[in-house]
Amino acid sequence: MESLPEVSEQARQLREQIERHNHVYYGLDAPTVPDAEYDRQFLELLALEAEHPELRTSDSPTLRVGGKPLPEFTPVRHRVPMLSIRTETDTEPSGARKFDARVRRELGLGESDAEVEYAVELKFDGLAVNLRYESGVLVQAATRGDGETGEDVTQNVRTIRTIPLRLQGNAPEVLEVRGEAYMSRPDFERYNERQRTLDKPTLVNPRNGAAGSIRQLDPALAARRPLSFFAYGLGETVGWTQPNTHRGVLDSLQSFGVPVCEHRTVAQGADGLIEFHARIRTLRDSLPFDIDGVVYKVNSLALQQRLGFVTREPRWAVAHKYPAEEAMTMVEAIGVQVGRTGALTPAARLTPVFVGGVTVTNATLHNENEVRRKDIRVGDTVIVRRAGDVIPEVVLVVLERRPDTVTEFVMPKTCPVCGSAVERPEDEAIARCSGGLFCPAQRKQALLHFASRRAMDIEGLGEKLVEQLVDEAIVKTPAGLYRLGIAALANLERMAEKSASNLLAAIDKSCSTTLARFIYALGIRNVGEATAKDLARHFGNLDALMAADEARLRQVPDVGPIVAASIVRFFAEPHNGEVIAQLRAAGVHWSEGETPAIAMPLMGKTFVLTGALPTMSREVAKELIEAKGGKVAGSVSKKTNYAVAGSEAGSKLEKAQQLGVTILDESKLRELLEQ
Ligand code: IVH
Repeated sequence: MESLPEVSEQARQLREQIERHNHVYYGLDAPTVPDAEYDRQFLELLALEAEHPELRTSDSPTLRVGGKPLPEFTPVRHRVPMLSIRTETDTEPSGARKFDARVRRELGLGESDAEVEYAVELKFDGLAVNLRYESGVLVQAATRGDGETGEDVTQNVRTIRTIPLRLQGNAPEVLEVRGEAYMSRPDFERYNERQRTLDKPTLVNPRNGAAGSIRQLDPALAARRPLSFFAYGLGETVGWTQPNTHRGVLDSLQSFGVPVCEHRTVAQGADGLIEFHARIRTLRDSLPFDIDGVVYKVNSLALQQRLGFVTREPRWAVAHKYPAEEAMTMVEAIGVQVGRTGALTPAARLTPVFVGGVTVTNATLHNENEVRRKDIRVGDTVIVRRAGDVIPEVVLVVLERRPDTVTEFVMPKTCPVCGSAVERPEDEAIARCSGGLFCPAQRKQALLHFASRRAMDIEGLGEKLVEQLVDEAIVKTPAGLYRLGIAALANLERMAEKSASNLLAAIDKSCSTTLARFIYALGIRNVGEATAKDLARHFGNLDALMAADEARLRQVPDVGPIVAASIVRFFAEPHNGEVIAQLRAAGVHWSEGETPAIAMPLMGKTFVLTGALPTMSREVAKELIEAKGGKVAGSVSKKTNYAVAGSEAGSKLEKAQQLGVTILDESKLRELLEQ
């Protein structure tokens, strides 16, 4: 048994750590420990204080809800405090039973009494905001802050497109909607991908993306990081007869046009909660946004009132967690993987850790600059994230835990697979093996890509098999696949005669394909599926494409200088020509010339849009321009043909004027589109 001074010291340390995390987490939007670790410390402090109430200081973090508002934002006093909910960290079904049992006890229900009805929903992982509508108009948006006072973030919240600026229908005098602003996974991936190409810092996770965006002092920057919103409750209401149930509240909010997540229902008793918890768990990876659990709320508002609140949380609600999608582990080594185009991707080998429901041993580090920016070294303790079906990533280094000896990563000078020189053009973030198809790693990836579903679609040609075919020098190029015989295949490990003949049948079937698939299957750098389709449509036959020079290629929509150069380089390589000839000789065919290029009056013209057009949204303008073959670029350069300027056009318009670019207003643009 520990002595009281020891326990008191332990509590002091926990308080200090939690306060520090609170500050970085809520105040600076940059966590240093994963949620699970924070929760553990918080629960430990709660337990200590419960056991020794004399240790509960008036500044204990257990008495408050979140961080202090940043001084830059105007404080907003919440008319109804924004509370938090208790978290059930027992991720097993027993967590749901505990909550139900507590509710029943507190309501004085006996065994023979009916089951309690719960409204069940998702626990979104973003930032809580309060939206205040007066007579149906959004007048203010605030963060939670410390629960009593938040920050005025109205401007930034207005950039969230799904939040109505005016409610539909018969809106009450005052309606405060509470919910979570979040960044969807696709928006997060897109944002980070763009940052990486620009060699700029990436977001740690979608929650930080949301928090950083909402608390961004420059609303224009906030708007560039797209957020979404789901409502889950109410704040103050005036002049509104509230429904009797939480479910009714959410349905009403939805009918006012406020986004409410469809994954919600009403569940009966503990079994109903468990069933929901299990169902959402299987759905979790496929959701387009992060959740860290589900939330159970007593459905009847009258019962909610009877249950009331304890210091910081209502007794009628609980968040039931899932295993964390972020966890702490160690970097044991940093290796490099060689991709199809020779790109060398640094990857961390990790001490195995259970995260997002699976054991993770590797994480991608994307590229050399990213390793430097995040300063990831061998020996470091890091936080890894595995959410949805994306490859696990290292989100940050826990610098406090860095040992004295750590090794910095250096990109090898030669390819670890084939020994060819590694090249990295100065203006590029990616280092590449210069070995081309001489490199077995590239050869394997090229074959896998060639056989993939959206390319030649050769069923049964998987990773293990390709590995053997290349390692034993049975197949060197895609053309080699069409020369395979049953004897060569049947000798391979784990290859029965039946699967060998199935594979040969699949290879044979792939002979009949389309030009677009074939172009995509070639694996030309920077030519994805969409570009392959554009090229097939535009040129109609392979020989025309192979003969095209850069200027000719750039007439194809969406083909810019980089893509055009890649294509020319690919076909200029004699080896590639040979493989194509061999493939054709082996019987690979498609119907040619059936889709001639359609006339597009704006083909080859580049537009830049700036300012607000009177009647057309930017998206619509972009679509119309692209439909006529034009391209829309983000910034003005010498290559810009037209700048389309609306009201409040800024620096882009100035630059266009300086460069003598033709300036159009909306009506001139319409004339051009109607040609
Ligand atoms: S209810 C009085 N429902 O979880 C109850 N919170 O509370 C107020 N959260 O920062 C909260 N999804 O922003 C509620 N479906 C949901 C939620 C939810 C996410 C967040 C909320 C708060 C945190 C802890």
